[in-house]
Amino acid sequence: MQRKPLIAGNWKMHLTIQEAVALAKKVAASSQGLEDREVMIAPAATALAAVAEAVRTSPVVIAGQNVAWKEQGAYTGEISPLMLKDAGAKMAIIGHSERRHIFGEDNGMINQRLIGALTHGIIPILCIGETLDEREEGLTWEVLREQVRGGLEGVSGEQAADVVLAYEPVWAIGTGKTASREQAQEAHQFIRGLIEELYQKKLAEQMRILYGGSVKPDNVDDLMRMPDVDGALVGGAALEADSFDRIIHFS
Ligand code: PGA
Repeated sequence: MQRKPLIAGNWKMHLTIQEAVALAKKVAASSQGLEDREVMIAPAATALAAVAEAVRTSPVVIAGQNVAWKEQGAYTGEISPLMLKDAGAKMAIIGHSERRHIFGEDNGMINQRLIGALTHGIIPILCIGETLDEREEGLTWEVLREQVRGGLEGVSGEQAADVVLAYEPVWAIGTGKTASREQAQEAHQFIRGLIEELYQKKLAEQMRILYGGSVKPDNVDDLMRMPDVDGALVGGAALEADSFDRIIHFS
């Protein structure tokens, strides 16, 4: 089973509209002609539409950094799946560790967001990952199991086929401490096993599992060499055109 690698840039709460468009144009140029891998960027909501327009003739896919589950209504501060689509997004990051740990989103809410995205044809990137305390207490597998099961609750096999997973150990995000390629592979293999338990082997083999947490130009090749690592979710190194270009062109 061939899984097409996905390199995804999460711009978090950075860049003005003008800066975002300038960077997006460089990413579009870097991605031109690439057929064996996909490239995605997730700008801040304010820049979504302008960035989508800037990459329109390129293969770059646009994502929201989160998504609500309702189409519209009294949900101050939220962006609906229809609004994301309207702005040109095809994917959405869901359950990022910053949403879980700074903004208190739990597996139940993340599950609603994921179902909302799928209902409206937005491809969710469901983020999961243990904190340092959880790892040190030996709870990594339990946490991943809960996050995968909780996030995909009520999602049929047919719907789950569209989901992308991202394993992001919280201790590796923004810290410069990448998981070793062996740690990443071990976690990805475990997560694929969970998908097989929940659905079927075929689906587990098709589902892409990205690694995230301090992915940089100098570690991406090593990580991408692991059999169950199908791409990268990149924060800091996605904000700079040259480093993201190098990551896109991993070998
Ligand atoms: P980082 O962020 O690459 O800066 O560690 C990754 C992420 O939060 O998705």
